[in-house]
Amino acid sequence: MLDGKVKDSKYPVGFHITPLAGLLNDPNGLVKYEGIYHVFYQLNPADTIHKNKHWGHIYSEDLITWHRAPIALAPDAWYDKDGVYSGSAIIIENQLHLYYTGNVIDEAGEKHSYQCLAVSNDGFTFEKKGPIFEHPKGFTRHVRDPKVWYDEKEACYYLVLGAQRENLTGTTLLYRSKDAIVWESMGDLITDTSKLSQIGYMWECPDLIVQKDQALFIYSPQGIEATGDNYQNIYQTVYLTGDFQENHFTPNMDMREVDWGFEYYAPQSFYDENRVISYGWMGITQPEFESSMPTVTEGWLHCLTIPRTLHLKDNQLFQKPVEELTALRKQKQVFTVDQALNTVIHSSQLEILISQPTGLASFDLTIDENLTLSYDATDFSLKLTRLNWYTNQLEERKTQLTSALKNLQWFIDGSVSELFLNDGQSVASARFFSSFVEQKQLEVTFAAQSTQEMVVYELKPLTIEA
Ligand code: FRU
Repeated sequence: MLDGKVKDSKYPVGFHITPLAGLLNDPNGLVKYEGIYHVFYQLNPADTIHKNKHWGHIYSEDLITWHRAPIALAPDAWYDKDGVYSGSAIIIENQLHLYYTGNVIDEAGEKHSYQCLAVSNDGFTFEKKGPIFEHPKGFTRHVRDPKVWYDEKEACYYLVLGAQRENLTGTTLLYRSKDAIVWESMGDLITDTSKLSQIGYMWECPDLIVQKDQALFIYSPQGIEATGDNYQNIYQTVYLTGDFQENHFTPNMDMREVDWGFEYYAPQSFYDENRVISYGWMGITQPEFESSMPTVTEGWLHCLTIPRTLHLKDNQLFQKPVEELTALRKQKQVFTVDQALNTVIHSSQLEILISQPTGLASFDLTIDENLTLSYDATDFSLKLTRLNWYTNQLEERKTQLTSALKNLQWFIDGSVSELFLNDGQSVASARFFSSFVEQKQLEVTFAAQSTQEMVVYELKPLTIEA
């Protein structure tokens, strides 16, 4: 965003939401309220460690020009004194309702979670109303991240909560309410888990998106074992498609990763008229990688993804960057790559587009000798390789497309990479830290097996206004 600590960063992040200072994690309370997009996010304003969580706040009318707002919720009540954890927003009779989890550590050192409400009449000042229901029996204190929506058909509000049972398995709890005040527990959202190959020990940030004839469930399970190329990160974010009927979601498939990159986690969606837009956090990683990220010494850490629209087709999730981002395009360069190209673009913000309706030939595309996307047209496999800043070793993530790669849209924003393949059917995000970025330019190396055309736009940063 090029303000706060990021303005003077060696890794200038221009079109991703960053904290002014401190640590940012999950997107929270996403909503369009009275014509304004409000993005709240988990924030430790004082340090780059996971403590002291507040709700940071930034807003925009068009997703391009943004305004910083004062911190929306601070951990200053008895029921949230050790952290205002993640949650969501809903508009009820023109009033903005924020549901979140209060984290409390008592004098004996024991942790407690409270599901809480705060309301606002203007979107900028919030009145805390305190806990909304009792902690459910049979669950550990890991019960959090309320996501609320209104169901037109049932004419009621629903709330899902990530939870851990006392037997240390993960689940999602469902509540319903006629008035968003008195909530009735409906038990597990998913009772038929027969399609799921793994459960894990805790499900964070559940999000059920109910459409006319099907439902999409996105959640971030912890404790999933790596299997083949899948689930290589410390924690995962996965999706299920299925039916939501009679207060239960029945998956019709096993879980699939939402993003096969390195740090994607804890996304949240919201409706904008007929669009479903999602932001994720970039992100989750091993504690030693997190504490050694080069921006820690600059006093800030992490960013959100760009906003992505979500679509379902044949039980497949498609994610696309919102259309609005095309307004960031400035300089356009078109390269015809006959086997090899090496060029330096004098910008740290780029969008790279390559398409071939009959399928691309195999290639390697490298940014700053640090991050490489390799495609093998013989088996439609893809590999994203980066230099890890902590180990100084190369590490990779892989995926296999179900059909030939026909188009690629790659956003590079200083130290942030987001890759959209085949119209968003396959998406991978990653952080990378190269010395070229420090010089505010990027080196793009493209080695292709046949002549291909590559379009590169230099991008403007998002605008920040006072
Ligand atoms: C996910 C998460 C949530 C929690 C929040 C605390 O990243 O662990 O479950 O509410 O972060 O910051």
